[in-house]
Amino acid sequence: MAGRVTVEDVARRAGVSTATVSRAVNGTARVAQETLDRVRAAIDELGFHPTPAAQNLRQQRTRNIALVVPTITNPFFPELVAGVTPEIARRGCSLLLISTGDPEVEAVRVAGSRLVDGVLLVGSMERTGATPRARHVEVPVVAFDRAPSTIRTTVVQCDNVAGARDVVAHLAELGHRDIAHLRGPRGLDVADQRARGHRRALLERGLDPRSGGELEGDFSEESGYAAALRLLDGRSRPTALFAANDMMAIGALAALRARGVRVPEDIAVAGFDGIRLGRYLHPTLTTYAQPIAAIAQRAVGLVLDAVDAQTTSTPGPGRRAPQVLTLPGDLVVGGSTSPAPS
Ligand code: RIB
Repeated sequence: MAGRVTVEDVARRAGVSTATVSRAVNGTARVAQETLDRVRAAIDELGFHPTPAAQNLRQQRTRNIALVVPTITNPFFPELVAGVTPEIARRGCSLLLISTGDPEVEAVRVAGSRLVDGVLLVGSMERTGATPRARHVEVPVVAFDRAPSTIRTTVVQCDNVAGARDVVAHLAELGHRDIAHLRGPRGLDVADQRARGHRRALLERGLDPRSGGELEGDFSEESGYAAALRLLDGRSRPTALFAANDMMAIGALAALRARGVRVPEDIAVAGFDGIRLGRYLHPTLTTYAQPIAAIAQRAVGLVLDAVDAQTTSTPGPGRRAPQVLTLPGDLVVGGSTSPAPS
């Protein structure tokens, strides 16, 4: 068809093979920056009709967003992924899911890989005392759930302090005075925030925050099981247990059942997250449901708006200073909590 610019025209103008133009346009293999620049220039000069891939090259877009999570064995994270995918698809992008033991190192690596336009990250905010050196990232990064400790960026997370306070307030209103807390890993921001909410709720009611005792788990069901056994072997038995996530609560329920302890009659049990599994237990789990879909949608919108601002000619919003955006969840009362024994 006369006048239609072809890949051959672009290759001839750039002085490369058509295969190189294809690799550059589709991002299917690494192309030297100097070659990439020549191909882009030829596309612009000739007005190469942008197929989506050519358009991506011109806008330097891959239309991929990486999502980096610490594990996929805890049901919370697959539910977070499920919350992300509709908005990613609606914005015409694909998701690259990366599950890794070191999310922040992996986030920096994939951000510099030219495979993605942006990165969503569950951080690993661990307060180790030392101020970690901030890492430079090549593309927009937005964190959700856990704040990162080495990447300065906005984080969207559940209001963990308020959520924990709501769970403990629910137990206190049922008459419980000795409410044990099975906390998440010390130093992890979300775990510390929930422990603070537990303590604050007890102090607000004039209750001794140490009354029920505090145990520490690692957010796994195994750690919840082991902690519940330690609780039963302790000197005094609390009438209620607040676990900092649902999987530890589920592990604790199994241990209590194994020891013949009735839930909620002997010990009321509550968790945190609101994973779907909790609704299919008997008794159903009282928990604080994190606003997973809202967190995911907000984080996706922030990262894609930052990508658009970076790759369009219109000056986008300046690089915002990193923020912490907390979204409220909901207390979900199930059968695992009931009034304290009289
Ligand atoms: O259950 C996994 C926990 O780790 C959740 O509470 C979530 O907040 C994540 O950080």
